[in-house]
Amino acid sequence: MQLQDVLFTQGFGTRRVCAGLIQQGLVQFREAGREHFQPVRGLRADHDVDPQGLWFQVQGVAWPYAERAYLMLHKPAGTECSHKPGAHPSIYTLLPSPLRMRPQKSAVQGVQAVGRLDQDTTGLLLLTDDGQFIHRMSSPRHHVPKVYEVRLRHPLQEAQVRRLLDGVVLEDDPQPVRAAACVLVDALHLQLTLTEGKYHQVKRMIAAVGNRVEALHRARIGGLALPADLLPGQWRWLGDADLAAVRG
Ligand code: URA
Repeated sequence: MQLQDVLFTQGFGTRRVCAGLIQQGLVQFREAGREHFQPVRGLRADHDVDPQGLWFQVQGVAWPYAERAYLMLHKPAGTECSHKPGAHPSIYTLLPSPLRMRPQKSAVQGVQAVGRLDQDTTGLLLLTDDGQFIHRMSSPRHHVPKVYEVRLRHPLQEAQVRRLLDGVVLEDDPQPVRAAACVLVDALHLQLTLTEGKYHQVKRMIAAVGNRVEALHRARIGGLALPADLLPGQWRWLGDADLAAVRG
């Protein structure tokens, strides 16, 4: 694969822009099995590289070649999972521009959030440019368990926990929705596991049992937990083991 095509597929701009980066000497690369980055000899944009296991540097920042990008983000409070946010900044501004600019066959560009979290919700959010992965993870048939940590306004009673597990009816849906698991950590803190993802589901379920969510944090998707050292606003690549953990 030509180096300019590698950069193009990874979101560094048009092929002309990518060729320009290489010709200006701003790109180095390291093929699988090599120890050090090397500059492109003779400033050739059509230099052939093996993309498998390739790392490249653009203006000193190192990137792995990834045919498809899979990331996790620790979503901070006060951000919206939208490209056109209303009152708060978009989560996409937390990502470097190549991840937002990766070319796609569809109209959208770059990585997209796998489902949405509310503006005030924090925690684990996955992003990818793999449309099939988004579809599979969002499908109600897939039943990926998501674990939420909920801080409540009023102490929760065991009877209310029972109702969340048995199923509550939300106003726009005659089918009751139930928590797959519900652990009362203390009277004001609940760990709730859901296998569906209806709009504002946690908040509406808690309201249906007569309480109110004060703070909401997603701690886990499938077998993938938000790492303790990934701080709000930070993102990280997902490896094969992470993806296997998410899929369960
Ligand atoms: N349920 C909610 O109510 N809000 C979220 O952000 C996620 C789940």
